Amino acid sequence: MDSLKWWQKTLVYQIYPKSFCDSSGDGIGDLNGITEKLDYIRNLGVGAVWLTPVYVSPMVDNGYDIADYKNIAPEYGTMADMENLIVEAKKRGIRIVMDLVFNHTSDQHNWFKESRSDCKNSKRDWYIWCDAKPNGAPPTNWRGIFGGSAWTFDEATGQYYLHTFAKEQPDLNWENPEVRRILYDIANFWLDKGVGGFRIDAITYIKKPVVLKDLPIDGPDGMSNVHMATANQPGILEYLHEFKREVFAGKDIFTVAEANGVSAEELPRWVGKNGAFDMLLEFNHMNLDMEKASLWCRPAPWKLTKLKKALSDSQKATTENGWYPAFFENHDQPRSVNQFFPKNADKKLAAKVIATVLFTLKGTPFIYEGQELGMTNTKWSSIECYDDIASKGQYALALQEGFSKQQALEFVWKYSRDNARTPMQWTSAKNAGFTSGKPWLSLNENYNEVNAGWQMQDEDSVLRYYHRLAKVRQEYDILLKGSYEELLEADEQIYAYMRVMKEKKVIVLCNFSEKEKEYSLPKLSGNGKLLLGNYADAPNQILRAYEARVYLCEGRTTIEGCSK
Ligand code: GLC
Repeated sequence: MDSLKWWQKTLVYQIYPKSFCDSSGDGIGDLNGITEKLDYIRNLGVGAVWLTPVYVSPMVDNGYDIADYKNIAPEYGTMADMENLIVEAKKRGIRIVMDLVFNHTSDQHNWFKESRSDCKNSKRDWYIWCDAKPNGAPPTNWRGIFGGSAWTFDEATGQYYLHTFAKEQPDLNWENPEVRRILYDIANFWLDKGVGGFRIDAITYIKKPVVLKDLPIDGPDGMSNVHMATANQPGILEYLHEFKREVFAGKDIFTVAEANGVSAEELPRWVGKNGAFDMLLEFNHMNLDMEKASLWCRPAPWKLTKLKKALSDSQKATTENGWYPAFFENHDQPRSVNQFFPKNADKKLAAKVIATVLFTLKGTPFIYEGQELGMTNTKWSSIECYDDIASKGQYALALQEGFSKQQALEFVWKYSRDNARTPMQWTSAKNAGFTSGKPWLSLNENYNEVNAGWQMQDEDSVLRYYHRLAKVRQEYDILLKGSYEELLEADEQIYAYMRVMKEKKVIVLCNFSEKEKEYSLPKLSGNGKLLLGNYADAPNQILRAYEARVYLCEGRTTIEGCSK
């Protein structure tokens, strides 16, 4: 009997609607644009599409500031367009997954408007209000994730409210049962519309500490990252289990929660038999080039062994219990070919290396729009060209830290979330075929070379490599079910691992550097078959610059003497 669920066997494709496809010509992507591209998505082998928020929103954080959870943002379309998208996707075997932003709302949500109207309002307690320190300063020294204090003073009622993110994103008070009830109702409303699951935003922040107090200063602004104070607080899982009971339990959907700061050891409490979610987007393998305070201007050295260890720890933690959502990109991260490879790396080979890992780890691969084309970071000439609220906050912090404007801008080039938000590159036509109007955000200039239309024609393209990977993953059960074992652990150039199922092994070898490398895996002997690689041939025992290979070995076999 097949013990795997549909969402374990499929691929998830993440769409940032604002940047995906504009059907109306206003320069902003929309739901009908997504519907138009469903065949393209289906051809990738995708069974679920995660839409970042499409609800009514002032768009201070591009939809992560929700003003109405049960209606569609007019710039994206109507509820009828949404229902049509769900139906059209279903016809193609694709389920739509909604993003639930439940840590906070927009300050334009009616709940917050009521809450701030009067200390005695019945919704006052739906948010987190606090008196100033005796000297009038904010209640604690916490820095919000986008920079600046995590507290904003409200003149009308004379108290501060807490916001983990921007001041326009006040945090909800999950201690209040009415709040939890209304959030569960919203999730059920979307299930009734036929969605296939949820990605749940910033969930680690919903539970606040009992005592709100200052923490040691960790930045040039004299503040301390709010994350250190509020992430993953004791008791959080009780709420999440309630959420599961009231909404997800027993339904044929999947849940994947964004949980920055949950370590691999903690995973069994979050996912699997006794966990609250099916999968957890933890970030232990990301941001390895940054110190804890998450300041872009304080980078830490990146090493391949750090990445390998983080991935292996998460693989081990989810191999028996739970399931891993493999990802290397999303709308908050720079492009993977820039994040994981040296500056001058061959981008096409690099994109295939990261794709190889994405598809051969144990778990469900999450592909972020444009990743399948090997889209890259951008470099704009001034901070004014950027839309991303986090980029602006981090730029200001870098200046405070004493960096010049140019240096501060260079941090933005490296880490900006806009790197991932430039419009999707469909063709080499004007605006990459994304819009007939003026795009809301500049395109990456390389769209003439990097675009889906062109890559469909080119057998050697990154896109066609994704198609091949999807086929291989579907054909070989071992890639779904086999266990994971790391090889060559101390190697700083090669990431190697096996997937093992009974007598069979799949061996994955990826060279993350430009230097050729001889490898030896002494324990294995015999013959193997090359399933896939990003070079035309495969000489024995040598991996060339940014080379990736996937071998299938049956019985006591090795990768020596394999033929294509
Ligand atoms: C999550 C989202 C990010 C957003 C933040 C606040 O981290 O992925 O884009 O800015 O939550 O909602």
